[in-house]
Amino acid sequence: MKAKSNEKVRIRPVYPALIDVLMRYKNRMILAIETSCDDTCAAVLDEEGRHALSNVVHTQTEHERYGGVVPEVASRAHLERLDGVVERALSDAGTDLDEVSRVAVTVRPGLIGALLVGLSAAKGLAFARKLPLVPVNHLEGHVAAAYLADPALEPPFVALIASGGHTALYSVTTSGMDLLGQTLDDAAGEALDKGARMLGLGFPGGPAISKVARDGDSARYDFPVALKEKNNLDFSFSGLKTSLLYKLKALDEDGIREELPHLAAGYEAAVVEALSRKLLRAAELHDAPALVVAGGVAANASLRRTLVEECERRGRKLVIPPPELCTDNAAMIGAAAASIPAVPYPDYLGLNARSV
Ligand code: KG4
Ligand code: ZN
Repeated sequence: MKAKSNEKVRIRPVYPALIDVLMRYKNRMILAIETSCDDTCAAVLDEEGRHALSNVVHTQTEHERYGGVVPEVASRAHLERLDGVVERALSDAGTDLDEVSRVAVTVRPGLIGALLVGLSAAKGLAFARKLPLVPVNHLEGHVAAAYLADPALEPPFVALIASGGHTALYSVTTSGMDLLGQTLDDAAGEALDKGARMLGLGFPGGPAISKVARDGDSARYDFPVALKEKNNLDFSFSGLKTSLLYKLKALDEDGIREELPHLAAGYEAAVVEALSRKLLRAAELHDAPALVVAGGVAANASLRRTLVEECERRGRKLVIPPPELCTDNAAMIGAAAASIPAVPYPDYLGLNARSV
């Protein structure tokens, strides 16, 4: 008898702590889904959305031979893969749907067919389990990737989103995101993708240009950086594209082959200068203590290097998520969902996706 009660006393301090931890996480996880473009993504996050327990990204390779994303091909590929990607996200996190308390999903902006695949799947999962659903704006998701990279980060800060579809600067405060400036024509990633295509390089263009640019001299060719006026926080990349086109026209095939690294390096440097110049300017104008860079182009090594140096020099905090959180993923959608009110079961059944 005595031994038994002693045993109880001994195990007591351990069990309540363990049960505490289990209860904290049980039935409280966020399942996030992202299908706005050509990546089929699902992730599982803790309740606060500050820690990803899994983050599965399936990048569709079907588009490579077209040199760009084909919307209908993207929708069909999402449809085929999403179930498997969600299952994988749950198993990677060591959990199942029983422990999920909210389903978060990207509802805008993006390719409408692709978004609808993700939204329909999210509605189905949430409805079957009588769970609430959190509709997330993809751009807010990109910014929220910074919270995963630095859970201590708090607004206010200025954020640059540079992706294949968007290039914009925001002032982020506790009450939301205010647009400070944006591209007047192509997005930065789009400019890199189009430039890569002109140079005969692969898709996506950003990494393809970076790879070739490594052996090039960025100063050999003069590429324009638009809208350099002090208080202008907009971007424009159409002049840069035209400039590359004229440089290529002036060269024959051998010349292009020889000059390729220098052309790629100059082109990439112009995009990096435009992005870093405007972000640093926005931080000064808004006296922002911290700067965040998000979106696929934030994976660019040269941009990261430039901003790290500049922010160190200016004594400002810089948060650039690791490359896998910069390109499209569902963990960032779950991170954004943590501060967005959930739509209760079953009110979200009429919810729609939007391309813009
Ligand atoms: O955010 P994201 O994955 O998808 C969109 O929402 O658009 O961004 C994709 C874009 C593409 O244009 C791609 O060329 C660019 O991000 N990108 C890069 C790098 N990795 C991806 N650009 C420059 N350097 C990179 N390392
Ligand atoms: Zn994106």
